[in-house]
Amino acid sequence: MANKSYSNDDAEAPTAQDIQALFNRIAPVYDRVNGLMSWGRHLAWKKIAVDWATPPEGGYVLDVCCGTGDLARLLARRTGPRGKVVGLDFSEQMLEYARRKTYEPLQRQIDWVQGDALALPFGDQTFDATTMSFGLRNLTDIAKAFQELHRVLKPRAKAVILDLNRTDNPSQEHFQQWYLTTVVPQLGRWLKLEAEYTYIAPSLERFPKGAEQIQIALRQGFKRAIHRTVEQGAIGFLIVEA
Ligand SMILES: C[S@@+](CC[C@H](N)C(=O)[O-])C[C@H]1O[C@@H](n2cnc3c(N)ncnc32)[C@H](O)[C@@H]1O
Repeated sequence: MANKSYSNDDAEAPTAQDIQALFNRIAPVYDRVNGLMSWGRHLAWKKIAVDWATPPEGGYVLDVCCGTGDLARLLARRTGPRGKVVGLDFSEQMLEYARRKTYEPLQRQIDWVQGDALALPFGDQTFDATTMSFGLRNLTDIAKAFQELHRVLKPRAKAVILDLNRTDNPSQEHFQQWYLTTVVPQLGRWLKLEAEYTYIAPSLERFPKGAEQIQIALRQGFKRAIHRTVEQGAIGFLIVEA
């Protein structure tokens, strides 16, 4: 599994085990690369996701595919000491970095849970809001992911899903392709993780565009769904209401 190529020529989509192993390997450099790759913008996008998810003060909220925990910590600041946040991820290594990066008092407000986004270990209608950043593109069954988000959300609660977006603007698309197939793999080469960072471009090619994401979410029971973009269409937010 460790030798599997994630190059652009690899037509075969990686399995969940491949993805899990990949994130366990890149966990030590994940935050540094994320900062570089997004030109330091990823925290601003995550703050927008929190705003649009409208987590109530004192509420119970879930961040799926939490990685090293940025969104979970932002949510915990919003829900406050009377609230509770769950950060869920299937990579033990990513969760380990999430724990290490979280200090009191936020530590007390967040539970880190190892689990699968496609089989959430929570009861129906549990959460006041959910978020996911840069996770959906990595999931092997997007419809199932929406079904699970819908199941665990209380009626009328929102989920906000932030990810890369395939833009329809030709010059922007050209830049995005060049960036993901040239600059990002070079970054990976410097870190001796080239295969791991080459997988991003094909994962975006397979990823449904905003309009299609809306249709999938509505078919899974969400009442309302809208898709918004920032950064000239390179970053997308799907906002859905249960
Ligand atoms: C690109 S990282 C994003 C991390 C974080 N949300 C952020 O924006 O920095 C994707 C995360 O999704 C997790 N992931 C992928 N598939 C998953 C699944 N089926 N269940 C739970 N976590 C999953 C990976 O382990 C990884 O931590």
